[in-house]
Amino acid sequence: MTICEILPNIYYVGVNDRLTRFFEGIWFIPNGISYNAYLIIDEKVTLVEGGAKAGFERELYNNISMVTSPEKIDYIVVNHSEPDHSGTLPFLLRIASNAKIVSSTMAKNILMNLYNIPADRFVTVKDGDIIELGEHKLRFFNTPGVHWPDTIMTYEERNKILFSGDAFGSYGTLDGGLFDDEVDIKFYLEEAKRYYSNIVGAYAYAVLNALKKLSGLEIRIIAPSHGPIWRREPSKIVSLYEKLSKYEAEDKVLIIYGSMYGFTRELAEYIAKKLVEEGVRVELHNAVNEHPSYALSKAWDSKIIIFGVPTYENIAFPPIYYIAYLLTIKKLKNRYYAIFGSSGWAGGGYKQIQKMLDQLGWEMVEPVIEIRGAVKKRDLEKVNELVKNIKRKLI
Ligand SMILES: Cc1cc2nc3c(=O)[nH]c(=O)nc-3n(C[C@H](O)[C@H](O)[C@H](O)COP(=O)(O)O)c2cc1C
Ligand SMILES: [Fe+2]
Ligand SMILES: [Fe+2]
Repeated sequence: MTICEILPNIYYVGVNDRLTRFFEGIWFIPNGISYNAYLIIDEKVTLVEGGAKAGFERELYNNISMVTSPEKIDYIVVNHSEPDHSGTLPFLLRIASNAKIVSSTMAKNILMNLYNIPADRFVTVKDGDIIELGEHKLRFFNTPGVHWPDTIMTYEERNKILFSGDAFGSYGTLDGGLFDDEVDIKFYLEEAKRYYSNIVGAYAYAVLNALKKLSGLEIRIIAPSHGPIWRREPSKIVSLYEKLSKYEAEDKVLIIYGSMYGFTRELAEYIAKKLVEEGVRVELHNAVNEHPSYALSKAWDSKIIIFGVPTYENIAFPPIYYIAYLLTIKKLKNRYYAIFGSSGWAGGGYKQIQKMLDQLGWEMVEPVIEIRGAVKKRDLEKVNELVKNIKRKLI
């Protein structure tokens, strides 16, 4: 229970999920995740964010009960309809039998499909609409695509809080600390980057549009739907988002490799060694025993990504194919890539990866280093050439 009055009459009533291993059924969350929700006590009692994932009804109810009787809720603001926040809505609507959901029209339609909620339980809002709660006023901004197409953000005018939904969120439960000045900020910024690359990254243009729309707004606190509340330095998470959504990379090389018997791995290690000798920052990612969510996160701020891919049944080793495919659907742009890998006879599996990355608009750094079996002395000249060409791209 992390319940807390974050400002006079505004309470954090969110919950921690320490059991889900894969967020959205796919993204590894070894440190769990929080589903943040905020309760504003005024003439109109308002819950901002629909609640939490289904299964957290009891805990959410208990949290709200610490502040007021949950039956008294008048408004439930749904910034977007995804079930990690809306799963508890059917329960809340039964408990608070007069409560209305405040959402975009599109979120209303999605929620009606998800939970059979009758239309008269909704108040829909458009861009710029204001709802008066008494002393507090909520203003709504249309920010479609961050993260779902139905997304709005909610701004509380009195305290200048932006309830930003998934934007500016991060993986990781809130273990006592709730605010950026109470937690290990390095951990959450790293997890915010991974969250961005996994969840929001495919809609970078939507993030840029939203940032533009909010740029004139005085924001003292960013209260997202996952992870810490940003009150000391909201600019930290905003500038991270700016950087990520503009595809800005660091002078860093990421080597993503997979290897059945170690031949491609040995070459990966040798290439990494040579790059480090040349003063290049290198990260290594094993495609099999590290979750792909980390590969996306590391790729998002790497200028050059090298794929170490053995040939497997005439195609690319599937774990590498999967990561390249994820990078394609997450639409990571403006990157250089290189390829190496081992094969037994005909080889050529790497061509699949090459095709995918070319279609994504990435530029290849040559040469492709395809070895037969183990690395031979004669292959090393090609490594030197690749390292030289990579260095050129980093200057
Ligand atoms: C299940 C399996 C399928 C393979 N398919 C091919 C293939 O289609 N073409 C090829 O040239 N080599 C093939 N190979 C051979 C490997 O590519 C080769 O042994 C390579 O050196 C493995 O590198 P690694 O140890 O980095 O995985 C296959 C090997 C395995 C185990
Ligand atoms: Fe979402
Ligand atoms: Fe979410």
